[in-house]
Amino acid sequence: MNELFFDGTFVGWKRAARGALVRGVDPAQARWIDARSAQTEFMLANLESVAGTEGDAPGVFRVPREFMTLSGCVSCHRDESRWTRLYRLLWRLTHGEPHLLEGAIDAEVSELNAMAKAVRRDEHKMHAFVRFREITTATGAWFVAWFEPQHLIVELAAPFFADRFAAMRWSILTPDRCAHWDGKALTFAEGADRSAAPTQDAAEDLWRTYYASIFNPARVKIGAMTKEMPRHYWKNLPEAALIPQLLAESAGRTAVMVAASEERVERATDFSAAAVPVTDDVGLLRDAAASCRACPLWRRATCTVFGEGPVRPRVVVVGEQPGDQEDRVGKPFVGPAGLLFNRALVAAGVERAELYVTNAVKHFKWEPRGKLRLHQKPNAREIAACRPWLEAELRALKPALILCLGATAAQAVLGSKEVRVLSDRGQLFPTEFGAPALITVHPSSLLRMAAGGDPEAAFALFVEDLKKLRG
Ligand code: URA
Ligand code: SF4
Repeated sequence: MNELFFDGTFVGWKRAARGALVRGVDPAQARWIDARSAQTEFMLANLESVAGTEGDAPGVFRVPREFMTLSGCVSCHRDESRWTRLYRLLWRLTHGEPHLLEGAIDAEVSELNAMAKAVRRDEHKMHAFVRFREITTATGAWFVAWFEPQHLIVELAAPFFADRFAAMRWSILTPDRCAHWDGKALTFAEGADRSAAPTQDAAEDLWRTYYASIFNPARVKIGAMTKEMPRHYWKNLPEAALIPQLLAESAGRTAVMVAASEERVERATDFSAAAVPVTDDVGLLRDAAASCRACPLWRRATCTVFGEGPVRPRVVVVGEQPGDQEDRVGKPFVGPAGLLFNRALVAAGVERAELYVTNAVKHFKWEPRGKLRLHQKPNAREIAACRPWLEAELRALKPALILCLGATAAQAVLGSKEVRVLSDRGQLFPTEFGAPALITVHPSSLLRMAAGGDPEAAFALFVEDLKKLRG
């Protein structure tokens, strides 16, 4: 048996693996030992020299770029066999099977691919589910999150947060590693103590755990910690006053934080499939949508604004997305556009209480303008991300008619961009939901009517369209 010591990191493993290849260490004879978790002073002390000689070995091996990507991912997997597996693959690639990764079906390769996939999924989850809480330090606000990733992904996932929350100072604490961002540099430190890991909402416990773990002299090498962590943060930690200031109300604070980093826009990783339960119970759909994170819009909104109305409506009305008031109240069409819609319904002789009213997109999209939150149009990706909720509503409610208010609604219901509201208004279009769609303008287009337009005539036309809902 060949015992291969390394420092437990991917970089350290690569160096040691190269050395082992040079020495011709057969994978069947190799035993990878993470000197860090082996925790013996002797091994740690000897690591440098061992790694040093191995690092100096001539690099005569060529490995495909795919191996570097794959191994980088797999190295974050929690399975302890990963180093052995990766070395076996490396050995095969450099001993007669250089094309192993190019599509052929190989059991070992597909297992490693599955491990890499699990790591990427976990990274994605971390991006989506980390929740920061604001604490006040002597040098200003700091945002702290507790998270328990499945795999060893803190280093992998942290740059995303550095990018997204570049303007903030934050720490993500996990049982394995902690990441810190002081507004300039990303640094990593030992994990917070897992045995006392707090629950998600136990913000104060969390802080105490972290506080205790880093000040436990048996666990922490003070010199190394101060080197690895931003000094002003470190300095502020012992202040007992910090503890009660840890915020429990995370949601509002997160919104503040997001608003403050708003040069960061949505990224590919912020989209996922909406977790829509298979049910005809609109109440269950509403409950599930309340925690939807399938697109980035939830981040800046107060709540999900789901549809409302009778469970057996004849007509489902679809708007675009909630506005400022709807976002605060949690109900669709209660702001200015809603009031105008109500007036037009009265004029058309239609009872609003008989309609089920919803939106194509369930979260308010906005950008700050001074103190105001300015409505922004949802883009095609956001509409598509949210469409599963609308589909589920329509399938559950089985209306006889779907009224689309404006282009976004028509596009979402018909699943097509080829809708021209002005020429198509008042007409019925077939849909996949077993009911035709009636298209008309959005009430807020009447509110926004340019000078020179005739608002009364526009209102009257809108009322004419709504009269088609009768009977
Ligand atoms: N505009 C919409 O499209 N929907 C609402 O709920 C409010 C305003
Ligand atoms: Fe989910 Fe829709 Fe909200 Fe996006 S807008 S988070 S898809 S409910």
